[in-house]
Amino acid sequence: MIQTQGITKSFGTLQVLKGIDLTIEKSEIVAIIGPSGAGKTTLLQIIGTLDSPDSGRLIINGTETGRLKDKELAAFRNKNIGFVFQFHQLLPEFTALENVMIPALIAKEKPGVAEKRAKEMLDFLKLSDRMGHKPAELSGGEKQRVAVARALINNPAVILADEPSGSLDTKNKEELHALFFELREQMKQTFVIVTHDEQLASNVDRVIHIKDGVVLE
Ligand SMILES: Nc1ncnc2c1ncn2[C@@H]1O[C@H](COP(=O)(O)OP(=O)(O)OP(=O)(O)O)[C@@H](O)[C@H]1O
Ligand SMILES: [Mg+2]
Repeated sequence: MIQTQGITKSFGTLQVLKGIDLTIEKSEIVAIIGPSGAGKTTLLQIIGTLDSPDSGRLIINGTETGRLKDKELAAFRNKNIGFVFQFHQLLPEFTALENVMIPALIAKEKPGVAEKRAKEMLDFLKLSDRMGHKPAELSGGEKQRVAVARALINNPAVILADEPSGSLDTKNKEELHALFFELREQMKQTFVIVTHDEQLASNVDRVIHIKDGVVLE
């Protein structure tokens, strides 16, 4: 589902990624762990096509992303990849429902269809009675579940999460992690999760350790 070959990335004179080779299968749940500054976020941004590598190849769902033009890449990302960040990154002036609808509207889905699907996702995440709330009116766990609904709305094959439970308390954290496994059962998504959470890391299919810009598997 995801393949990286020899990915390198530098910021100025600092070489952060020194040749990353990974193969992640469909429906696999993989955790990326490593010390602060190891390049985990940088790698996730590159896998998510939000940033481009200096060299190397990225193949997602059979598409070599480096060959796509900017517009094609944006459409590819919107359709194939869902993101969950440490801090939800919901738009404050929109309701939960509207936030979840946005990626579907960007994908040119009809508003009625986008709304129906967003409601289904929020329902699935047990947020039916919070749909009209704005982010400031939601708890941390609820905001993170809205962010997951937003990541799922276009039914992407790949979900990338950067410390998704980093801002949550134990109960919400455990619920969010359980949700990832439930989604994989129901929708067969592939998850790549950057985490410092040892409990999550001990439950995933595979842990990828990153240190000094290389993978120690
Ligand atoms: N846009 C940037 N410009 C310059 N340096 C950057 C940039 N982004 C990241 N870096 C540097 O690259 C290194 C790797 O950063 P990255 O965010 O990938 O680390 P990380 O493994 O996610 O760390 P953490 O666990 O603290 O989130 C760090 O030394 C960071 O300072
Ligand atoms: Mg990071």
